[in-house]
Amino acid sequence: MAITKEEFIKELNKDLEYEYAAAIQYVQHAAVITGPEYDAIAKELVVHSNEEMIHATQISTMITDLDGVPTVDVDERRVSTVSKEMLEQDLVGEETAIRRYKERVGQARDLGEFGIARVLEQVLMDEEEHRRDLMSSLGK
Ligand SMILES: [Fe+2]
Ligand SMILES: [Fe+2]
Repeated sequence: MAITKEEFIKELNKDLEYEYAAAIQYVQHAAVITGPEYDAIAKELVVHSNEEMIHATQISTMITDLDGVPTVDVDERRVSTVSKEMLEQDLVGEETAIRRYKERVGQARDLGEFGIARVLEQVLMDEEEHRRDLMSSLGK
């Protein structure tokens, strides 16, 4: 059975909580990460943070366009004192985002929300790029 508009809004609000959490987590990790091998990725984490906030704005707009109310709740943020572990935490977040947005694109299409599906595809592409940056820094 296809998803209802209400369930779709609920999932978008969960995506929004993840976006806020990712933005905060990236700001912290970018500031705390140390080691010359992580210089380049530290700068990239700031870029990721800003892009997550853009996603939060885009998701919020989708929710209001669908007559929902965007949340201000924030999902769990993960921190570490070990640089490599921070990047692993960020990678888990990106993989979660990719899995969730793939579902969301399909659901948007099922609901006939093709414009929203298109924006979600762009968000998905950003998350895939974030994952690529983290993986190359982790040597994966
Ligand atoms: Fe994002
Ligand atoms: Fe991301």
